Amino acid sequence: MLEVTGLRVAYGGIHAVKSITFHINEGEMVALIGANGAGKTSTLKAIARVLDAAGGDVHFAGEDITRLPAHEVLGRGIALVPEGRGVFPRLTVAENLMMGAYIRHDRAEIARDMEQVYDHFPRLREREGQLAGTLSGGEQQMLAIGRALMGRPKLLLLDEPSMGLAPLMVQKIFAVIQAVAAQGMTILLVEQNARLALEVSQRAYVMESGGISHTGNSAELLTDARVRAAYLGE
Ligand SMILES: Nc1ncnc2c1ncn2[C@@H]1O[C@H](COP(=O)(O)OP(=O)(O)O)[C@@H](O)[C@H]1O
Ligand SMILES: [Mg+2]
Repeated sequence: MLEVTGLRVAYGGIHAVKSITFHINEGEMVALIGANGAGKTSTLKAIARVLDAAGGDVHFAGEDITRLPAHEVLGRGIALVPEGRGVFPRLTVAENLMMGAYIRHDRAEIARDMEQVYDHFPRLREREGQLAGTLSGGEQQMLAIGRALMGRPKLLLLDEPSMGLAPLMVQKIFAVIQAVAAQGMTILLVEQNARLALEVSQRAYVMESGGISHTGNSAELLTDARVRAAYLGE
């Protein structure tokens, strides 16, 4: 469904992503793990076209999307939930969710999807009229994921959904990510929490200094001695 070939990202003279190649099949949850600074966020941003790639190409559902503007990539069904969430702090929870559906016109379906987001995250329903800026970090993460789902994406790009959150909140959010995956959503999950990412995904790529150092089935990587030593603290 997604084919990334020789993708490069540079900031001035800094080569953040050095010609990486990977793919995601429809319906898969694939993890992209690696230390801070490895190039994970830059990779997601280049796919979502929030930034320009320095080289390589990205195909989605058979179409070359490498040079499409960000809103057209979104229109093709790729939604990025950015690191740090990026909710609109001065809009309410419900308004933030509606923003996620702004490219849609099917009112009845939008209302139904909103109910489904509230079923996933009852905490958001309780706070539907509250300003997003007053939510806790975990609630903002829920809202960011909910907002992305309101666009009915085909591919969900999640950047560090567990970052800075208490274990109980991480558990709740990952339960929803798994539920959404079980409904057939294709997901690229970026995580510094390698163990968690490998536990919920089918396959994974390990990034190291801008390149891909390992790849394989997540269950196998969980038992790989090098991965355990470098990323699982064992
Ligand atoms: N806006 C930027 N300007 C310059 N360098 C950047 C910028 N964003 C990221 N980098 C650098 O690119 C590399 C990869 O960063 P990033 O993609 O954020 O990695 P990760 O998400 O894996 O932590 C790092 O060396 C980082 O310092
Ligand atoms: Mg990052």
